[in-house]
Amino acid sequence: MSTNRKLRLGVLASGGGTNLQSIVDQCQALKIDAEIVLVLCNNPDAGALQRAEKAGLPNTCINHRDFADRQSFDRSVVAALLKADVELVVLAGFMRIISEVFLDAFPQRIINIHPSLLPAFPGLQVQQKALDYGARFSGCTVHFVDNGVDTGPILAQAVVPILAEDTEETLSARILQQEHKIYPHAIQLIAEGRVTIEQRQVRIAYAEKSETALINPPL
Ligand code: GRF
Repeated sequence: MSTNRKLRLGVLASGGGTNLQSIVDQCQALKIDAEIVLVLCNNPDAGALQRAEKAGLPNTCINHRDFADRQSFDRSVVAALLKADVELVVLAGFMRIISEVFLDAFPQRIINIHPSLLPAFPGLQVQQKALDYGARFSGCTVHFVDNGVDTGPILAQAVVPILAEDTEETLSARILQQEHKIYPHAIQLIAEGRVTIEQRQVRIAYAEKSETALINPPL
């Protein structure tokens, strides 16, 4: 097997696409052994489509509004991903729930990034939910996608403090900075073949260890 073999990514996005951009940048800088072979958006106005164009990446829009139900939309998405020989599906702000049709086509091959420390605050508007709850920390989670909403096995997390003066915007920005680090990192771990799933546990071969505790307010 060639050592330069690159993991073929299909990145799905609905919005601005800053996570897509961080993956594009890391691929271009050869920091990850992956290549984006398709950017797929469900929303024709997604900034992610413009980012893909600018980076010269194959891209397509499949508008969910053109389909009668979730399954027929997913069948069309799956067909596009298979046609592009996608090996790993990377959801990067993709605001659609994935059906069994999609899961069955890419078993344990779909990952998502979520802007909270799962299992706390699944779903939407989670930065505001963490603020309203009065949590001292929040963060982001990369997880494999299963048939629940933000419930799949966890691959990577980053933790950020919540500050007294935080608004939804400032907390979201702090979390997003970490998203841009852990998503490419998680993809690289998969590209290196170091990731396996046992039940809910994601095992990472040869992982670095850290026992550093985070305390907020600091001691
Ligand atoms: C991110 O906060 C991500 O965690 C969530 O949707 C947002 C997408 O942002 N799933 P962007 O489009 O990558 O900038």
